[in-house]
Amino acid sequence: MKATKGRNVVVVGTQWGDEGKGKLVDWLTERAQGVVRFQGGHNAGHTLVINGVKTALHLIPSGIMRAGVKCFIGNGVVLSAAKLFEEIQGLEKAGVEVRSRLRVSEACPLILPFHAALDLAREAARENSGVEKIGTTGRGIGPAYEDKIARRALRVQDLKDPQRFATKLRELLALHNHVLKTFLGSDKLAFGAALDPYIKNGEVQFDPVYEEAMRHAELLKPMMADVSKELNELHAAGDNLLFEGAQGTLLDVDHGTYPYVTSSNCVAGNAAAGSGVGPGMLHYVLGITKAYCTRVGGGPFPTELDWEKEGTPGYHMSTVGAEKGVTTGRSRRCGWFDAALLKRSAQVNGLSGLCITKLDVLDGLQELKLCIGYELDGETIDLLPMGADEIARCTPIYESMPGWTDSTVGVVDYAKLPQAARNYLERIAEVTGVPVAIISTSPDRDHTILMQDPYQA
Ligand code: GDP
Ligand code: IMO
Ligand code: MG
Repeated sequence: MKATKGRNVVVVGTQWGDEGKGKLVDWLTERAQGVVRFQGGHNAGHTLVINGVKTALHLIPSGIMRAGVKCFIGNGVVLSAAKLFEEIQGLEKAGVEVRSRLRVSEACPLILPFHAALDLAREAARENSGVEKIGTTGRGIGPAYEDKIARRALRVQDLKDPQRFATKLRELLALHNHVLKTFLGSDKLAFGAALDPYIKNGEVQFDPVYEEAMRHAELLKPMMADVSKELNELHAAGDNLLFEGAQGTLLDVDHGTYPYVTSSNCVAGNAAAGSGVGPGMLHYVLGITKAYCTRVGGGPFPTELDWEKEGTPGYHMSTVGAEKGVTTGRSRRCGWFDAALLKRSAQVNGLSGLCITKLDVLDGLQELKLCIGYELDGETIDLLPMGADEIARCTPIYESMPGWTDSTVGVVDYAKLPQAARNYLERIAEVTGVPVAIISTSPDRDHTILMQDPYQA
């Protein structure tokens, strides 16, 4: 038994995702014995850079690059077994041992090919009727969570009983094929090469889905686990645990820019429900926050800039920040830092500290703008309102700050940051009321400044 009691840290994105959660989870794992994903699915894309080598993760927790650390996929995650094994094989090729270290909750709802078909067909239907697309990743995340909430999902544990699996799959296919064909005109849609093997005349076929699932069942069985029990046991033994959030607070299905959101709760509170631990086990909530804002997909974005026009600050963020999605390759929209949005995030997550990432991307910008509130329907407010319609009507109120010319790339000592950069960070902490605990100055694991230790605070 270890002398000290374990400290558990929740890592969440405070904006619209892609804040650099993966880099920080990998870095923080140096002092954790277990890392758990608690929501989302393979819509996530987390990039780790270790000694110059890049690894992209979608489903597997970002602690996997530290040998010996246990990784968990909690019940709150929607799981595509196909994508999981694709990712495992990629890591194994790179010499990373995964199977003996990965535990998957038996309660995870499965993402199956008809979920992706529904996702794509719904987006096409929105487009055809002139409604702005959500801009989903097309991975079937929303439809899989719908099945979960409707209490008809096939879960990981169903893979252990082929007969039960077959019966439930037949029922699900009857429903979803009806929707696909009757409401979504699937027989006239092209779903792309990945879904072609499963779809005939717009209907998803039983045999290829069932056969593939049974193959995955055999591979998955050794990793199936009671994740809740194992996490509680590690905690009781004094281990430190990391709870890795995917997406970001403004993509949260309740607290985000609804309906332009993902279909899960991305906020810190869901770390408990999505992994099977009590909220009292969550000691510190670290909010990963980009030094500016980005968003991929549709929906309102009050501080968005023209990021396609050369010579503008938005173009600078987009190009210097290499703002392209890891999952879909789409360009991320870019804009000024939004402190009124971060205040909302701090509120709904109960943030203990901030980690400001990509500070280096702002190097060389003469002037920085910080949104400190909005004008909405003739009134001034200092907190992001809820829901897309109200947010779309917000006009940002900016405060201007001088930028810096010196490079901050790779700086690991706070005192070595330019004074203007320190002023910017301090202003963010002041306006949001949350201390800056960590600063990231390059994609590399080691280029990280620690101000307040989440495992000690
Ligand atoms: P996540 O989804 O929150 O894990 O973030 P992503 O990995 O999708 O996107 C963040 C991107 O920024 C990745 O390409 C990272 O390698 C990169 N990144 C992370 N931190 C920094 C940083 O401090 N500076 C720079 N320049 N890039 C960073
Ligand atoms: P990470 O973990 C950025 C966005 C999609 C779309 C909306 C709904 O890398 O930060 P979905 O496929 O989830 O139904 O799409 O959510 N989205 C993300 N944006 N980063 C992510 O994950 C995202 N995961 C989903 O672009 O706007
Ligand atoms: Mg990402």
